[in-house]
Amino acid sequence: MQVITIAMQKGGVGKSTLARSLAVAAARDGLSVLIIDMDAQQSVSQWAERREADMPVVVFSTENELPKKLAQAKDIADLVVIDTPPARSTEAPAAVEVADLVLIPTTPDVEPLEQMPRTLRLCRGFERPVFAVINMANPTGPSEVTYTREVIEAMGAKAAPIVLHRRKAHRDASASGLTVQELKGATKAAEEMAALWIWVKSELQKCK
Ligand SMILES: Nc1ncnc2c1ncn2[C@@H]1O[C@H](COP(=O)(O)OP(=O)(O)O)[C@@H](O)[C@H]1O
Ligand SMILES: [Mg+2]
Repeated sequence: MQVITIAMQKGGVGKSTLARSLAVAAARDGLSVLIIDMDAQQSVSQWAERREADMPVVVFSTENELPKKLAQAKDIADLVVIDTPPARSTEAPAAVEVADLVLIPTTPDVEPLEQMPRTLRLCRGFERPVFAVINMANPTGPSEVTYTREVIEAMGAKAAPIVLHRRKAHRDASASGLTVQELKGATKAAEEMAALWIWVKSELQKCK
């Protein structure tokens, strides 16, 4: 069993979206997947209630319950994806500590990029492989991606090679308890997510 933790102190950057979409990608790839929702706002748990499919399984966990939830998952899940709350929290460090791979979503905006060093510092304390994932990039211009990559690299961090662009399909999919891979007509968003999953899988392979 491997664990991916999605962390970023700034809200609204796509943590929960990424957690749901990567979990669905892994499940469609044949893995048994569990999402652990550690955000008290429970946006992933609510998504699961809107959802008809029973994969991925979603459970809520506090920081104290996390070791027990992971121990229970060990024999049944191939992959656990942990979604964490925004802002300073005790959940994020606990989730980073148990991760094989940490992903930090950010939009190309100054506010999340300014918050990123705090999240990076948290990860460095645990020496886990960590990558920023650029999300909600403008689909019509590549320049902000180049700039965002430069800012991330200047922080001494690495960005995932796959960029997710701003696409309405993510919101539409969430409203129906789906992800973009499952939404009819969301080709570009689905292709990006599929490419991201292939890359994530190769990074997880390196952690084994
Ligand atoms: N690539 C994207 N394109 C368009 N909307 C997105 C994208 N990623 C996330 N969203 C939307 O942005 C909002 C915030 O995303 P969410 O995953 O809840 O962020 P967080 O968990 O970091 O607070 C949601 O309404 C979500 O549907
Ligand atoms: Mg969230």
